[in-house]
Amino acid sequence: MGKRAWILLAAAAAFASLAVPRTALAEEPSGMVGTQTCATCHEDTAKAFAATPHAQSALGCEGCHGPGQAHVDGGGDKTKIRNFKTLAPSESSAVCLTCHNKGMQSQWVGSTHDSRKLACVTCHNPHPKGVVPKALLVKPEFELCTTCHLQRKAQLFRSGHMPMREGKVTCTSCHNPHGSTGPGMLLQNSVNENCYACHAEKRGPFVWEHAPVRENCLTCHDPHGSIQDNLLKVKPPILCQQCHTATRHPSQVHVSADRFAFNHACLNCHPMIHGSNHPSGMRFER
Ligand code: HEC
Ligand code: HEC
Ligand code: HEC
Ligand code: HEC
Ligand code: HEC
Ligand code: HEC
Ligand code: HEC
Ligand code: HEC
Ligand code: HEC
Ligand code: HEC
Repeated sequence: MGKRAWILLAAAAAFASLAVPRTALAEEPSGMVGTQTCATCHEDTAKAFAATPHAQSALGCEGCHGPGQAHVDGGGDKTKIRNFKTLAPSESSAVCLTCHNKGMQSQWVGSTHDSRKLACVTCHNPHPKGVVPKALLVKPEFELCTTCHLQRKAQLFRSGHMPMREGKVTCTSCHNPHGSTGPGMLLQNSVNENCYACHAEKRGPFVWEHAPVRENCLTCHDPHGSIQDNLLKVKPPILCQQCHTATRHPSQVHVSADRFAFNHACLNCHPMIHGSNHPSGMRFER
């Protein structure tokens, strides 16, 4: 036999081994009756369900409610079918995770929301009434998150705030409510990486770096909202003087011609506060 024939033979064998599990999958797993059977008694539910993304799911109703044979044989025996309302949050989520354990949902187990006893069905409803909402959410996202996070809601109504009310960013522009490997369930691995995702110009590199900017943007800013301009936590000059002593810019009254006698806001003279690329921008003046 030539080399080419061997390769063909090996390829054929590989295909045959792939084909076996496929035919096995086509059979109904034990105790399953199929969505059509459920629909005979739950007509309205089945009709509404057909418009949701789960209608594409191969296992239909039973992918979530489990095998329905016993329930059907019992003429609709309630005790013989999985009912999400009676499940503990972690058991309920485990059902969804049988299919949704990848991508955005991969960090769910042990996440802050999981450990605070939220379940997938706290935020998602597979049986929506009427029009099927985006991602099967029980409420529009902003409303959903701020039902529990009242402090964040309050911040968003302050004078300085991330443009969430205006619809330019949402909570999930920065957070993954399913958990993440970053701090505070951020989509990125650090606070600064999160900010750079949209404020790329702040990443630098800069010839003259301002140490606290590199360390953590939240040293000076609150990402949700504040009563200062520019989401600042504290108003300058106090903001700056938390770290910088007044020795170089003493607070005695200056002679009227002195450059420190007016324009005393630190940023009038040090505007490049996030870093400077000017050869003589060491003091962030340019
Ligand atoms: C022979 C008719 C019949 C078939 C077929 C049927 N059900 Fe039911 N099912 C019922 C009845 C009747 C009830 C309501 C029992 C009650 O409220 O006392 C019910 C209740 C339920 C409940 C709610 C349980 C509760 O505690 O409120 C779920 C969930 C359910 N069925 C899912 C399914 C699924 C999934 C299928 C298909 C696998 C299915 N049913 C097939 C008749 C049926
Ligand atoms: C993606 C998972 C999922 C699929 C698929 C699914 N269900 Fe449900 N079902 C749920 C959840 C979760 C609840 C509980 C909803 C709640 O707590 O408000 C529920 C509740 C129910 C109930 C209880 C009554 C009610 O409306 O609260 C019935 C009956 C039911 N489902 C039938 C079905 C039938 C019939 C199908 C297929 C046509 C189906 N389900 C497919 C997850 C699913
Ligand atoms: C048997 C597998 C299976 C189970 C169990 C399952 N899903 Fe799904 N889910 C799917 C499939 C398939 C889709 C549609 C394709 C996709 O978006 O990946 C989907 C889509 C979704 C979507 C996206 C909707 C959209 O608009 O993009 C949400 C949200 C969702 N499922 C939530 C849940 C929740 C909550 C549960 C548990 C109550 C659950 N799923 C259980 C298979 C499953
Ligand atoms: C605190 C609320 C909350 C909880 C709890 C939650 N989700 Fe979500 N989920 C959301 C929001 C908000 C979106 C929409 C994100 C967007 O608009 O891109 C979403 C989107 C999704 C999507 C579709 C887009 C994607 O990320 O793939 C799926 C699937 C999904 N969730 C499944 C789940 C599963 C499974 C669980 C439980 C393990 C769960 N969710 C728990 C809020 C939640
Ligand atoms: C049912 C109530 C509830 C809903 C709805 C809810 N959360 Fe939470 N969330 C909590 C609880 C409880 C905690 C833990 C206590 C805390 O930090 O406030 C938490 C914590 C968080 C944290 C901090 C995580 C950490 O590790 O420090 C973030 C971020 C968060 N939630 C974002 C969201 C987003 C985004 C949404 C909307 C998609 C949302 N939450 C919806 C209850 C909720
Ligand atoms: C522009 C990005 C951004 C947006 C939009 C955003 N957050 Fe945050 N959030 C952050 C950052 C950054 C942190 C701090 C994370 C850390 O240091 O652990 C945080 C922390 C949190 C925490 C934990 C707070 C604490 O004090 O420990 C909660 C809860 C939270 N956010 C909820 C929300 C909710 C709800 C929304 C939507 C209304 C939202 N966030 C929108 C960036 C954002
Ligand atoms: C998803 C994109 C996004 C992320 C991530 C993001 N921002 Fe923003 N940020 C915006 C948008 C949009 C504006 C409004 C810009 C405008 O209206 O011109 C803004 C405005 C600001 C402002 C000016 C606010 C004002 O009152 O003028 C500051 C300060 C700011 N962001 C800081 C941060 C910090 C710090 C982080 C990281 C915790 C961050 N941003 C993460 C999108 C983002
Ligand atoms: C040392 C304090 C401090 C730190 C740390 C800091 N900022 Fe700022 N930021 C300010 C001040 C002060 C202003 C107001 C500037 C002005 O009024 O000219 C500002 C303004 C902004 C603005 C709005 C105006 C503009 O320049 O676009 C954005 C966006 C911003 N900062 C993002 C960030 C990001 C992203 C980080 C982290 C990489 C960060 N800041 C770290 C002090 C700081
Ligand atoms: C969290 C502490 C902190 C805050 C807040 C802070 N800085 Fe700084 N700043 C530093 C550190 C640390 C350095 C680096 C000092 C060094 O290298 O000797 C620095 C360097 C500087 C320099 C360069 C001078 C030099 O010695 O290299 C200037 C100018 C400056 N900061 C101005 C400001 C202004 C203006 C503000 C307010 C908008 C501010 N800083 C807020 C910590 C801070
Ligand atoms: C009128 C302009 C002006 C104002 C307002 C101003 N600075 Fe300066 N600052 C300067 C100049 C010019 C230098 C460089 C001085 C030098 O090199 O001799 C400087 C130097 C510095 C340095 C470098 C450290 C040092 O001792 O040389 C720091 C830190 C600093 N300023 C912080 C601040 C803070 C904080 C404020 C607000 C309280 C502020 N500046 C307000 C002009 C100003």
